[in-house]
Amino acid sequence: MQATPETCFVDFQDVWLAYNAQLLAQNHFAVEAIDLKVQRGEFIAIVGPSGCGKSTFMKLSTGLKMPSRGRILIDGQAVTGPLKISGMAFQAPSLLPWRSTVDNVLLPLEIVEPYRSNFKAKRKEYAERARRLLQKVGLAGYEDKFPWQLSGGMQQRASLCRALIHEPKMLLLDEPFGALDAFTREELWCILRELWTEQKFNVILVTHDLRESVFLADTVYVMSKSPGRFVVKREIDLPRPRDLEITYTREFTDIVHELRGHIGAGRKTDAQAQATLTTTAQTTGKAT
Ligand SMILES: Nc1ncnc2c1ncn2[C@@H]1O[C@H](COP(=O)(O)OP(=O)(O)OP(=O)(O)O)[C@@H](O)[C@H]1O
Ligand SMILES: [Mg+2]
Repeated sequence: MQATPETCFVDFQDVWLAYNAQLLAQNHFAVEAIDLKVQRGEFIAIVGPSGCGKSTFMKLSTGLKMPSRGRILIDGQAVTGPLKISGMAFQAPSLLPWRSTVDNVLLPLEIVEPYRSNFKAKRKEYAERARRLLQKVGLAGYEDKFPWQLSGGMQQRASLCRALIHEPKMLLLDEPFGALDAFTREELWCILRELWTEQKFNVILVTHDLRESVFLADTVYVMSKSPGRFVVKREIDLPRPRDLEITYTREFTDIVHELRGHIGAGRKTDAQAQATLTTTAQTTGKAT
């Protein structure tokens, strides 16, 4: 479905980023010509080869980096600095080892306004909220343990809770499940699916795992390396709710296969890649 001005939540208008003035002078951009519209509540995934600009896109989406050219609107507002409405989780859970799990989850509320000002007065209420969230992701009984007493998958669950405790409108996930084994990863897909279905925040998921992108997302974007551009937009029309069984169906594996082809094309020599990507972008619809 096309995002209209009313339903559009993320709006990149011809966005280019060079990391510094010298690179800009050399016309050396980490990402270029990004035109992308994401609907409110939409779950998008971004896949592409290492170094193509996925994390750069994340930094732009949260206002940690300003574009060298172009404009970004999030929830109708031009982005002018770091956004408070987003939560983030990365490949390494990066929990603080001296804080219990529940205290780690509470951390954003100690830092982000409006929670920060009333944190002391409302600590009990917030701790209840953190505990409820931890229970929802299957960490009942682990709330008062320390991160080093938790498995990798448990730590990543806690890190998801920390990203969501301030009820962000947008959740940014940069390879959040990359370090986990296949079974734990699938468990976490389901947890994320549940949280998203319930709360309908926007998700931008960066992943190297094509199955993960197809299972979770409404739309998958493929980026090309050098220049870092969005070259393919693939809407995932598999019905929801999706359960893990769907990953064994022909429909599912066909989409994964198709995406794999686009990534493969991006890895060929520059000249070959340009030719292939232009063709695939025409047949599947260039990212808009
Ligand atoms: N702080 C920086 N200063 C200069 N160049 C940078 C900086 N951060 C990233 N880059 C460059 O920008 C390009 C895109 O990097 P980015 O980290 O966005 O890639 P990525 O797609 O997230 O890669 P990976 O899959 O390996 O995480 C790369 O060429 C990288 O070298
Ligand atoms: Mg990255």
